[in-house]
Amino acid sequence: MAQQFTALLVEEIEPKHYGRRIVTRSVDDLPPGELLVRVRYSSLNYKDALSATGNKGVTRRFPHTPGIDAAGEVVEDASGTFAPGEAVIVTGFDLGMNTAGGFGQYIRVPAAWAVRLPPGLDLRQAMIIGTAGFTAALCVWRLQQAGVNPTGGDVVVTGATGGVGSIAVSLLARAGYQPAAVTGKTDQADYLRHLGAVQILDRTEVTAGADKPLLQERWAGAIDVVGGEMLAAVLKSTRYGGAVACCGLVGSPELPVNVFPFILRGVSLLGIDSVQCPMPVRQLIWSRLGAEWQLPNLEETATECTLEQLEEPIQAILRGELRGRIVVRL
Ligand SMILES: NC(=O)c1ccc[n+]([C@@H]2O[C@H](COP(=O)([O-])OP(=O)(O)OC[C@H]3O[C@@H](n4cnc5c(N)ncnc54)[C@H](OP(=O)(O)O)[C@@H]3O)[C@@H](O)[C@H]2O)c1
Repeated sequence: MAQQFTALLVEEIEPKHYGRRIVTRSVDDLPPGELLVRVRYSSLNYKDALSATGNKGVTRRFPHTPGIDAAGEVVEDASGTFAPGEAVIVTGFDLGMNTAGGFGQYIRVPAAWAVRLPPGLDLRQAMIIGTAGFTAALCVWRLQQAGVNPTGGDVVVTGATGGVGSIAVSLLARAGYQPAAVTGKTDQADYLRHLGAVQILDRTEVTAGADKPLLQERWAGAIDVVGGEMLAAVLKSTRYGGAVACCGLVGSPELPVNVFPFILRGVSLLGIDSVQCPMPVRQLIWSRLGAEWQLPNLEETATECTLEQLEEPIQAILRGELRGRIVVRL
Protein backbone atom coordinates (compact mmCIF):
# COMPACT_ATOMS: atom_id res chain seq x y z
CA MET A 1 0.00 0.00 0.00
CA ALA A 2 1.21 3.49 -0.80
CA GLN A 3 2.62 5.56 2.09
CA GLN A 4 -0.12 7.27 4.15
CA PHE A 5 0.46 10.62 5.83
CA THR A 6 -1.18 13.45 7.76
CA ALA A 7 -2.00 16.80 6.16
CA LEU A 8 -4.09 19.90 6.70
CA LEU A 9 -6.87 20.06 4.13
CA VAL A 10 -8.76 23.26 3.26
CA GLU A 11 -12.20 22.63 1.74
CA GLU A 12 -14.91 24.86 0.32
CA ILE A 13 -17.78 23.68 2.52
CA GLU A 14 -20.35 25.89 0.81
CA PRO A 15 -19.75 28.68 -1.71
CA LYS A 16 -17.19 31.13 -0.25
CA HIS A 17 -17.13 29.31 3.11
CA TYR A 18 -13.96 27.39 3.86
CA GLY A 19 -13.12 24.86 6.56
CA ARG A 20 -9.87 23.26 7.65
CA ARG A 21 -9.32 19.75 9.03
CA ILE A 22 -6.52 17.25 9.51
CA VAL A 23 -6.83 14.26 7.16
CA THR A 24 -4.96 11.11 6.23
CA ARG A 25 -3.73 11.13 2.65
CA SER A 26 -1.69 8.84 0.44
CA VAL A 27 1.43 9.81 -1.50
CA ASP A 28 -0.54 8.61 -4.55
CA ASP A 29 -2.79 11.68 -4.03
CA LEU A 30 0.18 14.02 -4.56
CA PRO A 31 0.73 15.70 -7.94
CA PRO A 32 3.31 14.34 -10.39
CA GLY A 33 6.91 15.45 -9.86
CA GLU A 34 10.41 14.01 -9.70
CA LEU A 35 11.10 14.72 -6.08
CA LEU A 36 9.30 13.13 -3.14
CA VAL A 37 10.20 14.73 0.21
CA ARG A 38 9.33 13.67 3.76
CA VAL A 39 8.60 17.08 5.26
CA ARG A 40 9.88 17.62 8.82
CA TYR A 41 9.12 21.33 9.23
CA SER A 42 7.09 23.99 7.46
CA SER A 43 6.21 27.53 8.49
CA LEU A 44 3.27 29.91 8.42
CA ASN A 45 3.48 32.85 6.03
CA TYR A 46 0.88 35.53 5.32
CA LYS A 47 0.17 33.86 1.97
CA ASP A 48 -0.55 30.52 3.69
CA ALA A 49 -3.22 32.19 5.78
CA LEU A 50 -4.77 33.59 2.59
CA SER A 51 -4.73 30.14 0.98
CA ALA A 52 -6.11 28.50 4.14
CA THR A 53 -9.07 30.88 4.16
CA GLY A 54 -9.99 30.47 0.50
CA ASN A 55 -8.28 33.43 -1.19
CA LYS A 56 -8.62 32.58 -4.90
CA GLY A 57 -5.81 34.98 -5.79
CA VAL A 58 -3.45 32.50 -4.04
CA THR A 59 -5.24 29.14 -4.51
CA ARG A 60 -7.68 28.59 -7.35
CA ARG A 61 -8.73 25.01 -6.59
CA PHE A 62 -9.95 23.43 -3.35
CA PRO A 63 -9.67 21.02 -1.53
CA HIS A 64 -6.06 22.00 -1.01
CA THR A 65 -3.13 21.63 1.38
CA PRO A 66 -1.36 25.00 1.88
CA GLY A 67 2.24 25.55 2.97
CA ILE A 68 4.57 27.55 0.71
CA ASP A 69 7.54 26.31 2.76
CA ALA A 70 8.84 22.80 3.40
CA ALA A 71 12.08 21.32 4.67
CA GLY A 72 12.78 17.62 4.95
CA GLU A 73 14.56 14.59 3.59
CA VAL A 74 14.50 13.29 0.03
CA VAL A 75 12.64 9.98 -0.29
CA GLU A 76 13.20 9.60 -4.04
CA ASP A 77 14.28 11.82 -6.92
CA ALA A 78 13.64 10.60 -10.47
CA SER A 79 15.85 13.40 -11.85
CA GLY A 80 18.93 12.02 -10.06
CA THR A 81 19.80 15.48 -8.65
CA PHE A 82 19.31 14.51 -5.00
CA ALA A 83 20.15 11.30 -3.17
CA PRO A 84 17.65 9.63 -0.82
CA GLY A 85 18.10 11.03 2.68
CA GLU A 86 19.54 14.38 1.54
CA ALA A 87 18.13 17.38 3.39
CA VAL A 88 16.39 19.91 1.15
CA ILE A 89 14.43 23.16 1.37
CA VAL A 90 11.53 23.89 -0.99
CA THR A 91 10.02 27.38 -0.93
CA GLY A 92 7.98 29.38 -3.40
CA PHE A 93 7.29 28.40 -7.01
CA ASP A 94 3.82 26.82 -6.91
CA LEU A 95 4.30 25.01 -3.60
CA GLY A 96 1.29 25.53 -1.33
CA MET A 97 -0.50 27.61 -3.97
CA ASN A 98 -2.01 25.07 -6.39
CA THR A 99 0.49 22.31 -5.56
CA ALA A 100 -0.09 20.47 -2.26
CA GLY A 101 2.25 22.18 0.18
CA GLY A 102 4.24 21.88 3.37
CA PHE A 103 1.24 21.53 5.71
CA GLY A 104 1.44 17.81 4.87
CA GLN A 105 4.10 15.26 5.85
CA TYR A 106 4.98 14.57 2.20
CA ILE A 107 5.29 16.81 -0.88
CA ARG A 108 6.04 15.86 -4.48
CA VAL A 109 7.53 18.64 -6.63
CA PRO A 110 9.87 19.21 -9.59
CA ALA A 111 13.49 18.71 -8.49
CA ALA A 112 14.25 22.20 -9.85
CA TRP A 113 12.29 23.73 -6.94
CA ALA A 114 14.59 22.33 -4.24
CA VAL A 115 17.71 23.75 -2.62
CA ARG A 116 20.17 21.58 -0.66
CA LEU A 117 20.10 22.50 3.03
CA PRO A 118 23.22 24.66 3.37
CA PRO A 119 25.90 23.92 5.97
CA GLY A 120 25.22 25.92 9.13
CA LEU A 121 21.43 25.39 9.21
CA ASP A 122 19.29 22.50 10.37
CA LEU A 123 15.80 21.80 8.97
CA ARG A 124 14.04 23.58 11.81
CA GLN A 125 16.20 26.70 11.55
CA ALA A 126 15.64 26.74 7.78
CA MET A 127 11.90 26.84 8.37
CA ILE A 128 12.09 29.48 11.13
CA ILE A 129 13.63 31.51 8.31
CA GLY A 130 11.27 30.14 5.62
CA THR A 131 9.92 32.31 2.81
CA ALA A 132 9.57 35.33 5.12
CA GLY A 133 13.21 35.21 6.20
CA PHE A 134 14.45 34.34 2.73
CA THR A 135 12.58 37.40 1.43
CA ALA A 136 14.10 39.58 4.15
CA ALA A 137 17.52 38.30 3.09
CA LEU A 138 16.75 39.02 -0.59
CA CYS A 139 15.86 42.59 0.44
CA VAL A 140 19.15 43.06 2.33
CA TRP A 141 21.11 41.61 -0.59
CA ARG A 142 19.39 43.93 -3.09
CA LEU A 143 19.99 46.95 -0.83
CA GLN A 144 23.67 46.03 -0.66
CA GLN A 145 23.79 45.74 -4.45
CA ALA A 146 22.16 49.16 -4.74
CA GLY A 147 25.03 50.63 -2.70
CA VAL A 148 23.27 50.97 0.66
CA ASN A 149 26.03 50.21 3.15
CA PRO A 150 26.20 50.27 6.95
CA THR A 151 28.08 53.59 7.07
CA GLY A 152 25.48 55.39 4.95
CA GLY A 153 22.85 55.86 7.68
CA ASP A 154 19.88 54.06 9.20
CA VAL A 155 17.80 51.47 7.33
CA VAL A 156 14.12 51.36 8.22
CA VAL A 157 11.99 48.18 8.37
CA THR A 158 8.17 48.40 8.34
CA GLY A 159 5.88 45.74 9.82
CA ALA A 160 8.89 45.06 12.02
CA THR A 161 7.38 42.54 14.46
CA GLY A 162 6.02 40.36 11.60
CA GLY A 163 7.77 37.44 9.92
CA VAL A 164 9.64 39.32 7.19
CA GLY A 165 10.14 42.31 9.49
CA SER A 166 11.62 40.39 12.46
CA ILE A 167 14.16 38.57 10.29
CA ALA A 168 14.94 41.78 8.37
CA VAL A 169 15.76 43.64 11.61
CA SER A 170 17.95 40.75 12.83
CA LEU A 171 19.73 40.39 9.49
CA LEU A 172 20.43 44.10 9.09
CA ALA A 173 21.91 44.18 12.60
CA ARG A 174 23.96 41.05 11.81
CA ALA A 175 25.25 42.68 8.60
CA GLY A 176 26.37 45.78 10.53
CA TYR A 177 23.49 48.17 9.76
CA GLN A 178 21.56 50.33 12.24
CA PRO A 179 17.97 49.11 11.79
CA ALA A 180 15.04 51.37 12.67
CA ALA A 181 11.85 49.37 13.33
CA VAL A 182 8.38 50.67 12.44
CA THR A 183 5.61 48.87 14.29
CA GLY A 184 1.97 49.09 15.33
CA LYS A 185 2.90 47.06 18.44
CA THR A 186 4.92 49.52 20.50
CA ASP A 187 4.61 47.14 23.48
CA GLN A 188 7.04 44.92 21.53
CA ALA A 189 9.88 47.46 21.73
CA ASP A 190 12.02 45.17 23.93
CA TYR A 191 11.63 42.31 21.43
CA LEU A 192 12.67 44.58 18.54
CA ARG A 193 15.65 46.00 20.48
CA HIS A 194 16.72 42.47 21.31
CA LEU A 195 16.69 41.63 17.58
CA GLY A 196 18.97 44.62 16.98
CA ALA A 197 16.71 47.63 16.32
CA VAL A 198 18.37 50.88 17.38
CA GLN A 199 15.17 52.94 16.99
CA ILE A 200 11.50 52.01 17.41
CA LEU A 201 8.90 54.12 15.63
CA ASP A 202 5.13 53.99 15.81
CA ARG A 203 3.48 53.53 12.37
CA THR A 204 1.64 56.83 12.63
CA GLU A 205 4.90 58.69 13.23
CA VAL A 206 6.20 57.47 9.86
CA THR A 207 3.05 58.00 7.81
CA ALA A 208 2.38 61.51 9.18
CA GLY A 209 2.44 63.95 6.25
CA ALA A 210 2.56 61.10 3.70
CA ASP A 211 0.51 63.22 1.28
CA LYS A 212 3.23 65.92 1.07
CA PRO A 213 5.34 65.95 -2.12
CA LEU A 214 8.50 65.07 -0.15
CA LEU A 215 9.43 64.54 3.51
CA GLN A 216 12.60 65.24 5.44
CA GLU A 217 15.44 62.88 4.41
CA ARG A 218 15.83 60.19 7.08
CA TRP A 219 16.71 56.75 5.72
CA ALA A 220 19.65 55.40 3.75
CA GLY A 221 17.51 52.42 2.83
CA ALA A 222 14.27 50.66 3.66
CA ILE A 223 12.55 47.27 3.67
CA ASP A 224 8.79 47.62 3.33
CA VAL A 225 6.14 44.91 3.77
CA VAL A 226 3.17 47.28 4.12
CA GLY A 227 2.73 49.11 0.79
CA GLY A 228 0.17 51.92 0.46
CA GLU A 229 0.79 55.20 2.27
CA MET A 230 3.52 53.58 4.40
CA LEU A 231 5.62 52.79 1.32
CA ALA A 232 4.86 56.25 -0.10
CA ALA A 233 6.01 57.91 3.16
CA VAL A 234 9.15 55.78 3.28
CA LEU A 235 10.05 56.68 -0.33
CA LYS A 236 9.48 60.36 0.40
CA SER A 237 11.76 60.25 3.47
CA THR A 238 14.60 58.23 1.90
CA ARG A 239 17.85 60.15 1.59
CA TYR A 240 19.50 61.19 -1.65
CA GLY A 241 20.70 58.10 -3.57
CA GLY A 242 19.03 55.65 -1.18
CA ALA A 243 17.03 52.52 -2.03
CA VAL A 244 13.77 50.99 -0.86
CA ALA A 245 13.04 47.26 -1.14
CA CYS A 246 9.30 46.65 -1.64
CA CYS A 247 8.10 43.14 -0.83
CA GLY A 248 4.63 43.22 0.71
CA LEU A 249 1.11 44.60 0.80
CA VAL A 250 -0.30 43.98 4.28
CA GLY A 251 -1.49 47.61 4.35
CA SER A 252 -2.43 48.08 0.70
CA PRO A 253 -1.39 47.02 -2.80
CA GLU A 254 -1.68 50.66 -3.95
CA LEU A 255 1.23 53.09 -4.09
CA PRO A 256 0.10 56.71 -3.77
CA VAL A 257 3.39 58.40 -4.60
CA ASN A 258 4.67 61.09 -6.98
CA VAL A 259 7.93 60.96 -8.94
CA PHE A 260 9.84 63.46 -6.74
CA PRO A 261 11.75 60.87 -4.64
CA PHE A 262 13.03 59.36 -7.90
CA ILE A 263 13.82 62.44 -9.97
CA LEU A 264 14.92 64.85 -7.22
CA ARG A 265 16.67 62.46 -4.81
CA GLY A 266 17.69 59.60 -7.09
CA VAL A 267 15.92 57.11 -4.84
CA SER A 268 15.57 53.56 -6.22
CA LEU A 269 12.54 51.34 -5.69
CA LEU A 270 13.59 47.69 -5.69
CA GLY A 271 10.96 45.05 -6.43
CA ILE A 272 11.44 41.84 -4.42
CA ASP A 273 9.99 38.48 -5.45
CA SER A 274 10.84 35.27 -3.63
CA VAL A 275 8.48 33.01 -5.59
CA GLN A 276 10.18 32.87 -9.00
CA CYS A 277 13.60 33.90 -7.67
CA PRO A 278 16.24 32.22 -9.93
CA MET A 279 18.02 29.17 -8.51
CA PRO A 280 21.57 30.66 -8.42
CA VAL A 281 20.26 33.57 -6.31
CA ARG A 282 18.33 31.18 -4.04
CA GLN A 283 21.44 29.10 -3.46
CA LEU A 284 23.54 32.18 -2.75
CA ILE A 285 21.03 33.62 -0.26
CA TRP A 286 20.54 30.28 1.56
CA SER A 287 24.28 29.71 1.80
CA ARG A 288 24.70 33.19 3.33
CA LEU A 289 21.92 32.46 5.82
CA GLY A 290 23.92 29.43 6.96
CA ALA A 291 27.22 31.34 7.16
CA GLU A 292 27.91 35.09 7.50
CA TRP A 293 24.20 35.86 7.95
CA GLN A 294 23.59 33.13 10.52
CA LEU A 295 21.31 34.77 13.09
CA PRO A 296 22.23 34.48 16.78
CA ASN A 297 18.67 35.34 17.90
CA LEU A 298 16.77 33.26 15.32
CA GLU A 299 15.21 31.06 18.02
CA GLU A 300 13.71 34.10 19.77
CA THR A 301 11.67 34.93 16.67
CA ALA A 302 10.10 31.43 16.61
CA THR A 303 6.98 29.84 18.03
CA GLU A 304 6.57 26.16 17.23
CA CYS A 305 3.24 24.47 16.58
CA THR A 306 1.75 21.33 15.05
CA LEU A 307 -0.77 21.09 12.21
CA GLU A 308 -3.51 20.75 14.84
CA GLN A 309 -2.45 24.05 16.45
CA LEU A 310 -2.39 26.14 13.25
CA GLU A 311 -5.92 27.58 13.44
CA GLU A 312 -5.16 30.35 15.92
CA PRO A 313 -1.98 31.60 14.21
CA ILE A 314 -3.77 31.57 10.82
CA GLN A 315 -6.37 33.99 12.21
CA ALA A 316 -3.74 36.07 14.06
CA ILE A 317 -1.52 36.59 10.99
CA LEU A 318 -4.55 37.83 9.00
CA ARG A 319 -5.20 40.39 11.75
CA GLY A 320 -1.52 41.49 11.67
CA GLU A 321 -1.14 40.37 15.28
CA LEU A 322 1.55 37.72 15.02
CA ARG A 323 5.04 38.31 16.33
CA GLY A 324 7.96 36.72 14.51
CA ARG A 325 7.72 33.32 12.86
CA ILE A 326 5.52 30.26 13.34
CA VAL A 327 7.43 27.07 12.60
CA VAL A 328 5.25 24.00 11.99
CA ARG A 329 6.51 20.60 13.17
CA LEU A 330 5.28 17.70 11.07
N1 LIG B 1 7.57 39.55 -2.30
C1 LIG B 1 7.69 38.34 -1.79
O1 LIG B 1 8.26 37.44 -2.37
C2 LIG B 1 7.13 38.10 -0.42
C3 LIG B 1 7.61 37.05 0.37
C4 LIG B 1 7.12 36.92 1.68
C5 LIG B 1 6.15 37.79 2.15
N2 LIG B 1 5.68 38.76 1.31
C6 LIG B 1 4.67 39.71 1.77
O2 LIG B 1 5.20 40.45 2.85
C7 LIG B 1 4.14 40.82 3.71
C8 LIG B 1 4.49 40.42 5.13
O3 LIG B 1 4.51 39.02 5.27
P1 LIG B 1 4.77 38.37 6.69
O4 LIG B 1 4.77 36.89 6.50
O5 LIG B 1 5.92 39.04 7.34
O6 LIG B 1 3.41 38.82 7.46
P2 LIG B 1 3.23 39.11 9.01
O7 LIG B 1 4.04 38.17 9.82
O8 LIG B 1 1.76 39.19 9.25
O9 LIG B 1 3.86 40.56 9.21
C9 LIG B 1 3.26 41.72 8.74
C10 LIG B 1 3.40 42.83 9.78
O10 LIG B 1 3.01 44.07 9.17
C11 LIG B 1 2.40 44.91 10.14
N3 LIG B 1 1.04 45.22 9.67
C12 LIG B 1 0.00 44.37 9.54
N4 LIG B 1 -1.07 45.01 9.04
C13 LIG B 1 -0.71 46.29 8.83
C14 LIG B 1 -1.38 47.44 8.33
N5 LIG B 1 -2.64 47.39 7.94
N6 LIG B 1 -0.68 48.59 8.25
C15 LIG B 1 0.60 48.65 8.65
N7 LIG B 1 1.30 47.59 9.14
C16 LIG B 1 0.65 46.43 9.22
C17 LIG B 1 2.40 44.12 11.44
O11 LIG B 1 3.62 44.44 12.12
P3 LIG B 1 3.76 45.62 13.20
O12 LIG B 1 2.60 45.43 14.14
O13 LIG B 1 5.09 45.42 13.81
O14 LIG B 1 3.62 46.91 12.44
C18 LIG B 1 2.48 42.69 10.99
O15 LIG B 1 2.99 41.86 11.98
C19 LIG B 1 2.89 40.18 3.15
O16 LIG B 1 2.20 41.11 2.33
C20 LIG B 1 3.41 39.06 2.31
O17 LIG B 1 2.53 38.68 1.31
C21 LIG B 1 6.13 38.92 0.06
